[in-house]
This record gives sequence, C-alpha cells and structure tokens, in this order.
Amino acid sequence: MNTAPGRATAVAHPNIALSKYWGKRDFGHNLPAVPSLSVTLAGMATTTTVVFDPALATDAFTLGGQPAKEGDLRRVTSLLDRVRAAASLTTRANVLSSNDFPTAAGLASSASAFAALALAATSAAGLAWDGAQCSDLARKSSVSAARSVFGGFVELRDGHPGDEDLAAASVAPADHFPLRVLVAVTREGPKSTLSTEGMLHTQRTSPFYPPWVETAPALFARVRAAVLAGDLPTLGVAAEESALRMHAAAIAACPGLIYWAGATVEVIEEVKRLRAAGLPAWFTIDAGPHVKVLTTPEREDDVALALAAVPGVKRTIRTRPGGPAILVPEATP
Ligand code: DP6
Repeated sequence: MNTAPGRATAVAHPNIALSKYWGKRDFGHNLPAVPSLSVTLAGMATTTTVVFDPALATDAFTLGGQPAKEGDLRRVTSLLDRVRAAASLTTRANVLSSNDFPTAAGLASSASAFAALALAATSAAGLAWDGAQCSDLARKSSVSAARSVFGGFVELRDGHPGDEDLAAASVAPADHFPLRVLVAVTREGPKSTLSTEGMLHTQRTSPFYPPWVETAPALFARVRAAVLAGDLPTLGVAAEESALRMHAAAIAACPGLIYWAGATVEVIEEVKRLRAAGLPAWFTIDAGPHVKVLTTPEREDDVALALAAVPGVKRTIRTRPGGPAILVPEATP
C-alpha cells in the first residue's frame, strides 16, 4: 500500500491529427472507431502539477489560476481514480494546470491536458509507468491525449471488440523530415461544441458517418506511408482529404455541425492559391475554426506572411514537430 503523498509536474504538447479520429466504438472504454496519426507540436504546452494531499476531502482542479468547471473536474477525478486504484491510494489530489495557448478553441487542449495529467498523476502516485501505460490511461479520458504522450509522429489504431487497454505508438521521431505547422487563429474564445459531444452527435445523426468510418483506414494508411517516406506533398493531400471527410460527416449531422468560421474558408482558399503558385502548403482543421497549415522550414516565412494577410486571421502560431510528455522540476511560485 502506497500511502506517502507525492507530487510531480509534467509538461505535454498538443498534437495535430494528420489522419483524423472522429467517432467512438459503441462497446465502451473510450475506444476510437477509426485509426489516427498525428504530429506532436513544439511551441505550445500544458504544464500540470499533481499533489496528493491527505488533508483534502475531494480532488481540486485549477486551470490557468481559476477553479475549473465541474465537468472538467469530473474528468480529472476519473483519471485520478484509475491512478489511485492502480497505486492502492485513497488520498485526494490538488491539480494545477496551465496552457500557454487558448483552451478548448480547437487547439487540442484536451490532448496535452490529459497527457500531462496522466504522466504527473502516475509519477506523483509512485507508479513507474512506461509511455504505453500512460498513453492508455490518457486515452481513457480523451482519445487524442493518448498520442500526446509521445513525441514526433504518432499513431493510434482503432478499437477492436475485447480491447480495454489501447495505447498510441511512435511512428517516426520529430526530426524524421523537415516540417513546419502554422496555426492560423481565426477566432478567439472557446468553441461551441466540444469534440466529445460533436462526434457523438455525428455518429448518431449523420448519414455520412458510416462512409467516414469505412473509408478512414485507407486514408490512414496513405498518411502513414507518406510520413514514413518523408513525402510532404503526398502527406499534405491525404491530410486535407482526412480533414474534409471528417468535417463533411459533421456538417451532414442533424442539425449540421459546422466548426468553421468565414475566415476558415478564406484560409483554405489562400492555401490553394499558394500551392498553385508553387509554394508547399496544405491545410488541416480540427473541431474548431482554426486552420493548421503544413509547410517546409524554407518557405515557413512566406507562408506565414500570406496567412497573416488573410482577412479574419487574428494571428498565426508557428510550431514544429516536438517531443513527448516529460516530467519537469516544479516551478517555484
Ligand atoms: C478533431 O480526443 O478531444 O481533434 O476522445 O472525446 O476526448 P474525446 O475527443 P478528442 O477528439 C479529437 C478530435 C479531433 C481529431 C483528432 O485529434 O484526431
């Protein structure tokens, strides 16, 4: 029985799916209905400290200095409950988390959040879990978080009957080929429909959900082969197809789920113009209005300049493939 209260701090990065996950298997355990492949991004981070404290009657969760919403606290507690069960602990925990990028705005904040929490909580509880165990723990809270435990290019297969544990795995390291990802921020503030609800709604009401699930594995295989080959043009085209098919399924739900802003479409048009002019630029979009643009280090400045000039683009964030979730020394207040 591990009764010693412990503390640990972890940092994790968001990831951007090049082959999208959208939809869950209907046999529980938060298993994805389709395989996905993402790249973990440097330049944006979640930092989370977990302190198991015998003086606490309940778990507490502070996000960016503010007490978190009840629903967010519930999700944190359910991850902590799994950790407590594994470590034979009953102690409640104080969780302090902060993002250096907008929360819940389609910038994959739940991915870095649960990856950092999984690593910090297991370490604070005295469990020496490896990446796969932390990834599975993070996945049970948020599927995309399984991928943020690892750095570089990361895959997660779809869930099969009988699966309970399912972890992401590394496909290639961050420096496998030169890639830059520019985030064109088109709206500040949180999005209206969170991914979990959005995909459930798509699953329940969109006539395009079954074809999405049916065709996603072949697209995933194309994305994976292009990543392994370091072939950015082929990767870019397949990533655009994956994003558009996912959004097509969501848009066809009843009522339709449109995550895009007007500027989202403007950026898509600009990316196409850049490509027609010979620049390397391909887009992808998650469950929010921002557009992530894949390009090369050599043309990053040109593409960033062009994106910043699109009407409606508030700012651009420059990122590149980054590292895994790691434990860090606690910052002194
Ligand atoms: C569009 O992982 O946030 O970013 O598993 O319900 O927490 P839950 O959903 P979440 O969905 C991410 C959806 C996506 C695509 C992706 O990251 O693959």
